[in-house]
Amino acid sequence: MTERKKVRIHHFRDMKARGEKITMLTAYDYPTAKLFDEAGVDVLLVGDSLGDNILGHHNTGAVTLDEMIPLARAVSRGAAKAFVIADLPFGTYEVSPQQAVESSIRMMKEAQPHAIKFEGGRRVAAQVKALTDAGIPFVGHLGFTPQSENMLGGRRIQGRGDGAYDDMLADALALQEAGACMIVLEMVVAPVAEKLTAALDIPTIGIGAGPDTDGQVLVWLDALGMGDWSPSFAKHFGEVGKAMREAVAGYVSEVKAGTFPTADHTFDE
Ligand code: KIV
Repeated sequence: MTERKKVRIHHFRDMKARGEKITMLTAYDYPTAKLFDEAGVDVLLVGDSLGDNILGHHNTGAVTLDEMIPLARAVSRGAAKAFVIADLPFGTYEVSPQQAVESSIRMMKEAQPHAIKFEGGRRVAAQVKALTDAGIPFVGHLGFTPQSENMLGGRRIQGRGDGAYDDMLADALALQEAGACMIVLEMVVAPVAEKLTAALDIPTIGIGAGPDTDGQVLVWLDALGMGDWSPSFAKHFGEVGKAMREAVAGYVSEVKAGTFPTADHTFDE
């Protein structure tokens, strides 16, 4: 068996060209990053979705760079082959290209991901250009952008209505032109995501954007059945939450009953 190669930035366009789907999952710590990397995931995304999924915030808007960096660093340590992307949280890049470069340099130095992602199209194109000029790979995020949830009027599906495709295409082309290496399309109607994918040279990664993007991403807790709720576009590829609940209940009942530890788990002298 040939050893799996480390995933590098130039592989993404090659994969798009040969029609090989790109797999991406979120990861927020060392053990899951290591496990997902060993299972063959191409890209690990340290999303600001860690705000609600890991830190228990009510949304992603509250997440800070200080909260994200240690988790991103742990993911980078666990990823032997996968390409690691770290999100910049709300408030750390919008003000100016200089703010975006400073936040990205901090993330790159302290957490060592391979690329930075943040949300927006034409409105952040100057920031993206400044990042790529500084030698920092960038991944875009269009469609439903959780950091702008209040502007978008809630978790609403994007790409519907007259002009929606042209608008998203202008945003996507602005990101591509500024040097983005990939674009995440979140909750975009499938025909629009398909047309954007065909119009771009760089790969698109869909989440709730149908089957015709160049790759797929899911929040791992949604994909593996960890939480009480998951979005309708996510499939459970396992029931890890149930397995953990049962395992922990087993531990509790054996300790209470005095049946753990046994002689097998005991040092006699
Ligand atoms: O923060 C995140 O996990 C994301 C994905 C939903 C794409 O941006």
